[in-house]
Amino acid sequence: MDYKVKDVGLAPQGRLQIEWAEAHMPVLLKIRERFSRTRPLEGVRVGACLHVTKETAVLVRTLVAGGAEVYLAASNPLSTQDDVAAALAEEGVHVFAWRGMTTREYYEAIGRVIAAQPEVTMDDGGDLTALVHKLHYGEGGEDVDTVREVAGGARPRVIGGTEETTTGVLRLRAMAREGKLLYPVIAVNESRTKYLFDNRYGTGQSTFDGIMRATNLLIAGKTVVVAGYGWVGRGIAMRARGLGARVVVVEVDPIKALEAYYDGFYVTSMEEAASVGDVFITATGNINVIRGEHIAKMKDGAVLANAGHFNVEISIPDLERLATSKRAIRPGVDEYRLADGRRVYLLSEGRLVNLAAAEGHPSEVMDMSFSNQALAVEYLLKKRGELAPGVYRLPLRIDRRIARLKLEALGVRIERLTDEQRAYLRSWRAGT
Ligand code: NAD
Ligand code: ADE
Repeated sequence: MDYKVKDVGLAPQGRLQIEWAEAHMPVLLKIRERFSRTRPLEGVRVGACLHVTKETAVLVRTLVAGGAEVYLAASNPLSTQDDVAAALAEEGVHVFAWRGMTTREYYEAIGRVIAAQPEVTMDDGGDLTALVHKLHYGEGGEDVDTVREVAGGARPRVIGGTEETTTGVLRLRAMAREGKLLYPVIAVNESRTKYLFDNRYGTGQSTFDGIMRATNLLIAGKTVVVAGYGWVGRGIAMRARGLGARVVVVEVDPIKALEAYYDGFYVTSMEEAASVGDVFITATGNINVIRGEHIAKMKDGAVLANAGHFNVEISIPDLERLATSKRAIRPGVDEYRLADGRRVYLLSEGRLVNLAAAEGHPSEVMDMSFSNQALAVEYLLKKRGELAPGVYRLPLRIDRRIARLKLEALGVRIERLTDEQRAYLRSWRAGT
């Protein structure tokens, strides 16, 4: 069997975790039930690069029920739940993931997925898709060289792909702009049943879950600085307020900054926020949002956490340069001591704190995100040969179907338009 996990003996514990997630993912289970009857993914090799969590396992089981053979690599070196990876390996999934992988091991794992010549790529953050493209265009670099060593001459002929997150979609659009995108990709992140819930409520809650598990600090009374007021930042700011924090928002987009202002938050630059914040959370998808000049102004004991996809939002090189010493003071908490004795704490090595220090989003939220993923694969296969290379949204009817199924599972009834109301909304004649 082709897999690499920390310890396959953890499988029984992983199966229980997956069972718990399944009990909270009714929409995806409904899709699984249909998939096992109709087998829309029969014989299709899906290569995935996702956070290997109990919720991902529920998605993988759904793809397998639809007939797919799944190759799965971790989409972050620190986010794998080893017991879940073990359970998947025991079930016949080709999983290459363990918590604490080195950078080289991370790319080797993606190489194993590419070596399997997937027909569909399923990505979270764009590393798998970017590497398929870098190999195709013969690019160099440490990442692609590692993948080339593992995948050899494998040249996957991909029908289509899916992308889970904002950062991955940005990278896809960059590929498309350069005319380099080789196949159609569904931007799952752009489904409303994804970003409105996963990015906002999922990250809003799980980011604090991670910060609190790592530090056990009291959030009430703290000044929490949130960088980025996109879908993730909105959720984090909302939950910080709910926990009793004073919330400061740092934004570059004037419209979103104004929205944060009228949502009742203090809005300012990072330069000003740096000296007042107790906890800093980045959620921008951008690089070097917290830099040396900000760190130099921070209070003793400031905590730095990131919820954005990559560990580039807090400048770790600047932190290392400013620090006279560094020690791990608790699991997932590194203390950096500055020249004048002040201490700054970095959580989870600047990697997404909700997955590295906690379990990621709750299953109820991932139910919708991963229903989008499963239906996106089915859609790509149905549309095989019809979609030009490009970045696509799932059709709104599929998005709405997911919302309806979720409401049904929640036992929530909604109102229906009468014929008269439908006609009224479509007419321009009726006025005062
Ligand atoms: P978004 O595009 O909706 O929001 C990002 C915001 O950051 C924008 O408003 C942008 O103007 C702002 N921004 C950019 N540069 C900035 C800077 N230097 N200072 C302040 N603000 C800046 O994106 P999103 O959906 O909120 O996602 C943000 C990041 O979180 C992405 O990397 C995404 O992939 C990631 N993400 C993580 C999780 C998770 O589980 N941790 C879940 C979903 C998304
Ligand atoms: N991204 C955020 N939370 C997640 C989870 N629980 N599983 C997989 N990917 C995630």
